[in-house]
Amino acid sequence: MKMHATEIIAKKRDAERLSTDEICWIVNAFVSGKVPDYQMAAFSMAICIQGMHEEEVYALSMAMLESGTTLEWPTDTRPLIDKHSTGGVGDKVSLVLAPLLACCDLRVPMISGRGLGITGGTLDKLESIPGFRTDLSLAQMQQQVQDVGCTITGTSSQIAPADQRWYTLRDVTATVPSLALITSSIMCKKLAEGLDALVLDVKCGSGTSMQTAEDARRLASSMAHLGQKMGVTTSALISNMDQPLGKMLGNAVEVNEAVDILEGKGPDSVRAITIALGCEALLAAKIESETEAAKTRLASLLDSGQAREKFSNMVTSQGGDLDAPRKVAKSLVLCSKQSGFVHAIHAGTLGRSVVQLGGGRQTLGGAIDRSVGIELCVEVGDAVDAGQELVRIFASSPPEQPWIDTLYDAIEINPQSSKVPPLIIDRVTSDGHPIQD
Ligand code: URA
Repeated sequence: MKMHATEIIAKKRDAERLSTDEICWIVNAFVSGKVPDYQMAAFSMAICIQGMHEEEVYALSMAMLESGTTLEWPTDTRPLIDKHSTGGVGDKVSLVLAPLLACCDLRVPMISGRGLGITGGTLDKLESIPGFRTDLSLAQMQQQVQDVGCTITGTSSQIAPADQRWYTLRDVTATVPSLALITSSIMCKKLAEGLDALVLDVKCGSGTSMQTAEDARRLASSMAHLGQKMGVTTSALISNMDQPLGKMLGNAVEVNEAVDILEGKGPDSVRAITIALGCEALLAAKIESETEAAKTRLASLLDSGQAREKFSNMVTSQGGDLDAPRKVAKSLVLCSKQSGFVHAIHAGTLGRSVVQLGGGRQTLGGAIDRSVGIELCVEVGDAVDAGQELVRIFASSPPEQPWIDTLYDAIEINPQSSKVPPLIIDRVTSDGHPIQD
């Protein structure tokens, strides 16, 4: 039967269930260029608004996976494992975790993304390292994983090409927050890697797509079920994204913070979530059987500089120079107008502020400025005095007053001290909750 994009879009607009054939047809037609971006943008918005049933999410993920190839690996004693985050403001964990896990005799073929909506992207961050390449061929990627233990690279015309095209479109059409689209986008890449186990960091709060813990659990459960169904041991941590992760937000400045963590320094929150996700990976891969032993091993690899050395090897192997200076824009400081306690730092507003500085894209294929960003000088729960530094802004041109006012509003200061929310909220495995968008 001949299919038409407009009919499939209209069906989803009217909340009807799509058949597997219809889903496969539109994904393949998009990849081959028969369905243009404007129709795929309309289709994405219809999915965002109407959702998809579990069978549709499965069909969509499979169609996106089958748009490219699945990696096959030489037999090796080292398990294949990866971690992926649903995206959060200041989330630079992948940069640290890939080399850290490679130090534990795991192979990590990490396929990552660029900035998505208000959240920064691992590939954009890494490209602030002079020379670093995120477009490795399949052969280069596989060779590097065998030799170095890890790679962080992008989707391509060979691996999950449907996600490569769709991801950039979703970034600039406000169609990121959808359980169906996030599940299929993440899982098609991760299943294409040919993994033994997958660890997910599902963010929850104002700086990400899932605003409530319940929505985050449903997303985690959707991905964990799919992973299990496809024979990949999958678990997820649900973590707090009401305040940004760490102090640095932007591209080059986040690489700097990731290097600090790799040297055993840096903010406690970034180190803690990295180690928690690393423990999940070591237990899933049966490299360790006790959480405490896994934590100790990961912490000592950070503190001894071994993880930093592995990161440096990965960067060199991908053409980058970690010792070359990374460009960071001129800074200016905003000071507190009052004394009190930091009650909230709204991650969503800060993520949007970085995009507006030029750190993220606002149009398809738009250039980004990797040198801009924001450094938080305080975190939730801190006491502050009037006149104390609140944030440092790295900007290529002086920010306008409304932008500065919005930034001030994003950091709430109260007279009374506030409770610091937990960083890790929950853990979800494939026997979690039912899936329904
Ligand atoms: N990461 C992805 O790869 N895709 C999404 O949709 C969200 C986060």
